[in-house]
Amino acid sequence: MSSRISRQRACVLALGFVASVTAGPCDIYASGGTPCVAAHGTTRALYDDYSGPLYQVQRGSDGSTADISPLSAGGVADAGAQDSFCAGTTCVITIIYDQSDQGNDLTQAPPGGAASGPEADDYDSLASAIGAPVTLNGKKAYGVFISPGYGYRNDEVSGTATGDDPEGMYAVFDGTHYNTGCCFDYGNAETNNLDTGNGHMEAIYFGTGDGSGHGTGDGSGPWIMADLENGLFSGEDPINNPGDPTITSRFVTAIVKGEENHWAIRGGDATSGDLSTYYNGVRPSAADGYNPMSKEGAIILGIGGDNSNRAQGTFYEGVMTSGYPSDDTENSVQADIIAAKYATTALTSGPDLPDVGSSVSLRATSACCTTRYLAHTGSDVNTQEVSSSSSSDLQQQASWTVRTGLGNSDCFSFESVDTPGSFIRHSNWELHVDTNDDSKGFAEDATFCPQDGLNGQGNSFRSWSYPTHFWRHYESTGYIASNGGVHAWDTADTFNDDVSWEVSDGFA
Ligand code: AHR
Repeated sequence: MSSRISRQRACVLALGFVASVTAGPCDIYASGGTPCVAAHGTTRALYDDYSGPLYQVQRGSDGSTADISPLSAGGVADAGAQDSFCAGTTCVITIIYDQSDQGNDLTQAPPGGAASGPEADDYDSLASAIGAPVTLNGKKAYGVFISPGYGYRNDEVSGTATGDDPEGMYAVFDGTHYNTGCCFDYGNAETNNLDTGNGHMEAIYFGTGDGSGHGTGDGSGPWIMADLENGLFSGEDPINNPGDPTITSRFVTAIVKGEENHWAIRGGDATSGDLSTYYNGVRPSAADGYNPMSKEGAIILGIGGDNSNRAQGTFYEGVMTSGYPSDDTENSVQADIIAAKYATTALTSGPDLPDVGSSVSLRATSACCTTRYLAHTGSDVNTQEVSSSSSSDLQQQASWTVRTGLGNSDCFSFESVDTPGSFIRHSNWELHVDTNDDSKGFAEDATFCPQDGLNGQGNSFRSWSYPTHFWRHYESTGYIASNGGVHAWDTADTFNDDVSWEVSDGFA
């Protein structure tokens, strides 16, 4: 037994009650006899006495790293330390530390067996450090915003369940950030990044995936389901479990737990109310391999067991336990999550944009190009020399109507003045002006969050759906670019200048 767990147990026993109000989630699990063997949270400490690092960030300006710790033992992450370290540049999350004493840190996920997906043969990308700002009890913190192609993993694990061993898991997710792609997961997976067969995973899944033929929940989703490998399950197989509801809360507590021929899904609003049980029954039986289970014990975040990386979602905190937690223990954990008071906060910063509905121009600030503006020629977004004496066609092509973000109302979309109904959107990393097709994908591709210009001038425009990426001009073409990424237009040379734009009244 770890020294942390024995200390906490002694404390709980001495106090004579379980789940004291000051206990963190992992203290509560320990007191229930099902200790955490992995505890990940970029937003807060998950043990009352934990004051070590929560996560590591790496900045784009010089590649150096910094650990972010709680403000105090058991407290909220020191987001101010991150903001200072990352000021005037970009940062990504490189390590999500395991707060248990098992050392199960999560790092950049390696390539796996998945045959498709963004850059399927490469390591997954690392999440932006600023993609998922929140507050906990009024203090700012950052979650982990996973876009398709992004993910974390640990294959060299210690203490996690294997075979048919019992385990529990919970995670707090953003209930509004999901897709149908496989698979936004947190939990137990294969140690070799390959699909090694049914029952080799047991992870929490969140999204609108079709279950790979094993059924879904009620309504149109998103659902909390279990990824048990080669199938997302909402209950016994095959079933569309009407008891597994479409999640509608902004913050969601998601639970999957399993033991010998028995497993359960539970969930609730992470900011209020009780947990509900969405499934509690026997293992899937209609296909071989799920009873008994063959868990391998690796830990994944944001990806499937074979590194299927087509999903998106946001993770704030989560744990894995040794042993099958009782509902009472989980109910106490839910009370602790509620007491943490997760809340939304601004996704934007920098000079305010003109009001929604007004027309703006966007002037480049790079030394090469200070008389060039973001414009478009047909579907292609580019920069062009524009002035009040330019043709009225060109002035219109370089003017954009500010709209509430189609994919997130805290950010913005930019409608073409000369082609109403068409918006700036990213597609294959290029910026285009395309007709809004009213799809979820289009809305998300056309949503951008202004922040302080990275070179100190104007605004930089962060892609909502890929927050490591910003509007950039490169050889007069418009892209979303990541600082020092793999494409030519991602070059770190003049990155800050090329992603900073002065916003003024539109030409037209
Ligand atoms: O079970 C669904 C997915 O199927 C798993 O996450 C992945 O390993 C496989 O492709």
